Amino acid sequence: MGFKDLRDYLENMRSKGKLIEVEHEVDVNLEIAELGRRATYSHLPPLLFTRVKGYPGWKVLTNVYYSMEGIYELFGTKNLEGIADNFLASFGEVPITILDKAKSLPSLLKLGKYMPKGKKALFKEDKSLNLEALPATKTWPKDAGRYMTFSIVITKDPEKNTNNLSIYRVQILNEREALVHWQAFKRGSLAASKYRDLGLSKVPVAIVNGVDPIITFTAASPVPPGLDKYLFAGILRDEGVDVVELDNGILVPAHAESVLEGYVDLNDMRPEGPFGDHLGYYTPQDYYPVFKLEKAYVRENPIYHVTSVGKPPLEDTWIGKGVERIFLPFLKMIIPDLVDMNLPEYGLFTSIGIFSIRKRYPGQARRAMMSIWGTGQLSFLKLVIIVDSDVNIHDMNQVLYAIASTVDPQRDVMIVTNALNDSLDHTVPNPPLGSKMGIDATRKFKEELGKDWPEPVESDPDVVKRISEVWEKIASKWPSPPSR
Ligand SMILES: Cc1cc2nc3c(=O)[nH]c(=O)nc-3n(C[C@H](O)[C@H](O)[C@H](O)COP(=O)(O)O)c2cc1C
Repeated sequence: MGFKDLRDYLENMRSKGKLIEVEHEVDVNLEIAELGRRATYSHLPPLLFTRVKGYPGWKVLTNVYYSMEGIYELFGTKNLEGIADNFLASFGEVPITILDKAKSLPSLLKLGKYMPKGKKALFKEDKSLNLEALPATKTWPKDAGRYMTFSIVITKDPEKNTNNLSIYRVQILNEREALVHWQAFKRGSLAASKYRDLGLSKVPVAIVNGVDPIITFTAASPVPPGLDKYLFAGILRDEGVDVVELDNGILVPAHAESVLEGYVDLNDMRPEGPFGDHLGYYTPQDYYPVFKLEKAYVRENPIYHVTSVGKPPLEDTWIGKGVERIFLPFLKMIIPDLVDMNLPEYGLFTSIGIFSIRKRYPGQARRAMMSIWGTGQLSFLKLVIIVDSDVNIHDMNQVLYAIASTVDPQRDVMIVTNALNDSLDHTVPNPPLGSKMGIDATRKFKEELGKDWPEPVESDPDVVKRISEVWEKIASKWPSPPSR
């Protein structure tokens, strides 16, 4: 599992006939994003643009995460939960708790396999490379400019030395300056506030583009803070990432196509945006800090990796679905009540979540809601629906039936006000504060309903046995009903 680098991934896809190489000349200004979105909406495989207007020598790649198929290609399996299950089978606990105790555990040796390893860089310093010289794209007509959309912003926690690799959009301002859109509570801004606490205003940063797509997937994943993202990437790739240390102390993947070394100046905040975001609307301007470029590195014949967000389902949707499956086993260890979760594509991942629980006592659904809102980035969810474990939460009709047949709104809907929501959510007057709604769509205990839950209708088993043969004869003469 895992690819040596982005080129290895592309070769793999090419050999399977799953890479579309586009020789037609395209513009970074809106054209690449438009074609990329169309390809994702149509579930086409990745697009590699070989002639990019004004950027000779560069190729631009998009649509790597083109559907669930694209995610399965990446991990070489459809059993994404199995990745976490295998890890748990070896270690018995979530990586973060292992690390807490690690020093005394023999299992630390086993973890070593997943740790980053020092290697020689495949990129070289290029004094002529600057931010304007990158084929970064403008994705929507009213965006403030060109953005790095799939670059990985790497910081280091100044206290614990944890490596943070995160996908944040970065708005290019000029040859040497860019705005880093790290939202509050994300690793980048948490690390920045620790630097500030130490009296430091310059946060060493690397912005890396074009790596093994499992590393990019990891950078977009809500790995619990404190757990090293290189270590987590190593777990997902089944092999540690080869890294190089830059002069500013930041570790970067040795195989990256391009690397920008510099720092984020916390004393230089400027208005970022507008930018067409994953809700399908433009986020208005807000203040974010400026990245200042010191050195740039690049590989020969480089590839630049981009995406576009917008109305679902685009690439971030399929990353979100992959995250949902891979993280479920870990999440079950943190919230043992949980049986399954569905963050539906059109629920934007930060908005609507459906969860099933094995209900054993009254009040359990509300308890689960509060655990979910207290867990990592699930805390952003605006609407949490809890159903019983016999409901298939991936079938919206079953979910609607559960709501329709178990919910008394006054009793079963919980509204939480002034809670933390996605700061990009335009529906609330005062982001990131907004309200949340929990719906308890589980069957009720007597304590909850005030009387016994009614008995569900079920066929008489003797009649079922008797009548089955007759039914087969009737039904076999008619086509199956059309699926709705
Ligand atoms: C295409 C794409 C763009 C994203 N843009 C941003 C962004 O601009 N700001 C942000 O805070 N998160 C953004 N995210 C979400 C983060 O990558 C995600 O929350 C991730 O878990 C980073 O978490 P970390 O800060 O814990 O590393 C984006 C995700 C994707 C897939």
